Amino acid sequence: MEHLEVLDSRTGKSYKIPIDDGYIRAADIGKINVPERDLVNDVETESKISRGLRILDTGYQNTACVESSITFIDGHRGIIRYRDFNIEQLFHNYVFEDIMHLLIWGHLPTQAEKDHVRVGMADAMNPPESVAKVLSAFPRDAETMPMMLAGMSAFAAADETVCATRHTQKAMFQGRLDVADVALVRTIGYMATTTALIYCYKNNKDFTPPDPTKSLLGNILWMMGISQENPKVEECLNKLWILYADHEITNSTAAVLHAGSTLLDPVSAVMSGVICGFGPLHGGAIDLAYEALATIGIPERVPYFIEAVKRGKGRLFGYGHRIYKTRDPRLTLIEELMSKYKEEMDANPLIQVSLAIDKYASQDPYFIERNLKANADLMGCFLYTAMGFDPEMIIAISSVSRCVGALAHWRESLTQPVKLWRPLQKYVAPLAN
Ligand code: ACO
Repeated sequence: MEHLEVLDSRTGKSYKIPIDDGYIRAADIGKINVPERDLVNDVETESKISRGLRILDTGYQNTACVESSITFIDGHRGIIRYRDFNIEQLFHNYVFEDIMHLLIWGHLPTQAEKDHVRVGMADAMNPPESVAKVLSAFPRDAETMPMMLAGMSAFAAADETVCATRHTQKAMFQGRLDVADVALVRTIGYMATTTALIYCYKNNKDFTPPDPTKSLLGNILWMMGISQENPKVEECLNKLWILYADHEITNSTAAVLHAGSTLLDPVSAVMSGVICGFGPLHGGAIDLAYEALATIGIPERVPYFIEAVKRGKGRLFGYGHRIYKTRDPRLTLIEELMSKYKEEMDANPLIQVSLAIDKYASQDPYFIERNLKANADLMGCFLYTAMGFDPEMIIAISSVSRCVGALAHWRESLTQPVKLWRPLQKYVAPLAN
């Protein structure tokens, strides 16, 4: 087996750390230790307390926390594969519903499988009275994220399985995928209805009850009353959502798994992901990017704005990505959609500002040296606005597509040994004794 040879200069001991497919195990690093010192007698002791070497990785920049078979990303070569199908092939030949099944259950669905899930989802999409009541307590112009959490919380409180999860001695879902699947399908239904109710409430529209013959996307647009008015929206989002359905262990998917590792139910776990999804360095960047575009207003003001960013006056939101050191492969596919819906895109003058930023930034050494490029979420947001959505609804709607991927990871975690996620810290303040 390949291994890493480590010489510990503190003790003179050497260690062979196995390398498995480019990874070493943190537990093997933990075996590298120095003997504990008895400070009173100043001698080495056989301590039971581990003094093993630890890895400090703030922001998890080089640490894998799960083994997964769902999505493969190579950020250097610009490759994304879902269950080993490349994203381009899926984008051109399938719709979102197929991808949802592929990610969660590992294969492309039959019509009978689609119908079965549609019925289960639509059943969960019927909101109890408490959900609509909670949402109507907000002002209509309230921030979307707290409304999402409130709606999901109201759904959780009305769900018997969610409530039972916290009162059972044994794990409710681990190794019981049939029980997990019911809960998972219901969670997606709750996300869809919460988003549709918020959309209707903010736009003063009537909510349309779900239709069990429709797909997840078909139903959310149906409940919003959009597909009845403009079928193009479903056609466009059926492709765009494929690109956002999963992106392996993002900040929000990690939050879902982190919460899930406490044996929580999937509704509560997904709520943790929703919160992270709205953060400014994650999905929330879209709102900030959009606000910046509106402030810039016209392409001629772009150089002044970018120079201010370079002087440290804030970040260029919608730019940069932790994983991609080359072009995000989703951007090419988003551009295909943008040219398909060119007429609708051109109606938004901010797209010209965004393109001017892209042109300026792509030739500027600051952005080139740091590999900073427009991220797929920024460009995708123009498709949402072209389809008639207000910017404030974009993250909420895209979190419905992403909750599918996050729940695929949650389901996968149920087939692995139970292990509470609990990172370590390095304590750096002085100790009195
Ligand atoms: N604008 C200006 N400078 C940037 C930007 C940006 N958008 N992103 C990174 N940088 C600079 C940093 O200042 C840093 O410069 P330095 O080396 O001189 O200190 C360097 O690039 C590296 O930045 P990090 O923050 O260390 O990179 P990291 O990989 O941790 O960050 C992130 C990735 C958070 C996405 C970052 O690029 C960012 O803040 N972008 C803006 C927010 C955004 O668009 N987020 C959405 C990402 S997509 C998604 O999550 C849905």
